[in-house]
Amino acid sequence: MSLFIKKPLEQLLAQSGDSGKGLKRTLGAGNLIALGIGAIIGAGLFVRTADAAASAAGPAVVVSFIIAAIGCAFAGLCYAEFASMIPIAGSAYAYAYVTMGEFVAWIIGWALVLEYALASATVSIAWSEYLNNLLVNIGMPAVPYQWSHSPFEASAEGVSGIVNFPALIILVILTLVLIKGTKESATLNAVIVFVKVAIVLVFIALGWSFINDANYTPFTVPQGTPGHSGWRQFGWGGVLGGASIVFFAFIGFDAVSTAAQEAKNPKRDMPIGILGSLVICTILYVLFSHVLTGIANWQEFKTAGKEASVAYAIQNYMPGYNWLATLITVAILAGFSSVILVMLMGQSRVFYSMSKDGLVPKVFSELHPTYRTPFKSNWLLLIFVGLFAGFVPGSIAGDLTSFGTLFAFVLVCVGIWVMRVKNPEAPRPFKTPLVPLVPILGILVCSAMIFSLGVETLVSALVWMIAGLIIYFSYSKHNSNLRKPD
Ligand code: ALA
Repeated sequence: MSLFIKKPLEQLLAQSGDSGKGLKRTLGAGNLIALGIGAIIGAGLFVRTADAAASAAGPAVVVSFIIAAIGCAFAGLCYAEFASMIPIAGSAYAYAYVTMGEFVAWIIGWALVLEYALASATVSIAWSEYLNNLLVNIGMPAVPYQWSHSPFEASAEGVSGIVNFPALIILVILTLVLIKGTKESATLNAVIVFVKVAIVLVFIALGWSFINDANYTPFTVPQGTPGHSGWRQFGWGGVLGGASIVFFAFIGFDAVSTAAQEAKNPKRDMPIGILGSLVICTILYVLFSHVLTGIANWQEFKTAGKEASVAYAIQNYMPGYNWLATLITVAILAGFSSVILVMLMGQSRVFYSMSKDGLVPKVFSELHPTYRTPFKSNWLLLIFVGLFAGFVPGSIAGDLTSFGTLFAFVLVCVGIWVMRVKNPEAPRPFKTPLVPLVPILGILVCSAMIFSLGVETLVSALVWMIAGLIIYFSYSKHNSNLRKPD
């Protein structure tokens, strides 16, 4: 039987309507936007903005955000069509099963593990960093270096990391919340999203009057600036380089689509959730990065302001607002928690779908008798994500996350195009505009960002994808439900 065997669209839709036995439908449009914002605003904004300004874009990081947003918007428009058309858990994986067949679906599902599982690991590592920052700020002892860093890191004093305990602890807590239920997770997420958006708005509003216009000149990093040698590190090339760094800040809007099977009215609310959260976050990001690089000079983010850059800018340039620096750190910790929560949820829902199809073992789709959440999957995932969070540096996990996400985006754009040609009659409650132009632009922008990720990341991703192929040919292909005789 062909490697590209496709799941019939009717079968998938029947499965998505079969909600009596499966996941509970509890989420409305507001919950879905909150889910999106919950996954989007996190380490990307609070850590990578300053990093992108310092290493590549200068104050023009605000333009980097706009470029990354445009790439995401193309992919987001394609996601929205799929999510309204095929409202089933599993997101890009499920869409590919219908449009491009089982083999491509497997490859996407495997890439999504990089996105969701490793994003949870990356952000839990950032959570650990900010926790230490907060402890010091409020006069408490920090978690010792060796117990809050991976074995691949060493401090300036030569202390080597052993394991990142705070990152593991936050993962355990959030796994327990997830097992308790989607509605409970969504409620906690909504509270955190409120706090997170409020703090971003407060920073923009209060910080605006402390902007020093001199910090915007020159707008891009001048050629010849020490430490900026490659074409992606100065001038407008640097602005592009900055876009691939801040892309991480947008990861997550697609996580809305993984919850399609838990949405009350997915056909209407999926596009609202995906595009609404993307638009809100883009506006906040542009304003936030404009204020941050206006308050402190981008050069300072290379040295004194390298860590906890937002708190640094406030403490040094907004006299009388020290309380805001502490408050922001608390909000950032809460904000990171919601990113981890939604990402862990997204991953377990992708595995849920793959397991229902027989491509991964049944244990990933067994639901808790009371909570009806895939609890065993959540526990297994905790072990996998925990290994990365505890023992791998955040930068490595972060770049692999970007690879997995961009790769899935490209395939979703391809899928929309294929579907329009092969299945023009299928009902589409939301239609991606200007097909094939929008998918083609999505493919181009996202591929460009993939190739600017760096050779080491691309090689690690290749190893991951090869491992996926071995599992597919040795297990999944033989256990696929679609290949079993009725
Ligand atoms: N977009 C998420 C973050 O920035 C992954 O933390």
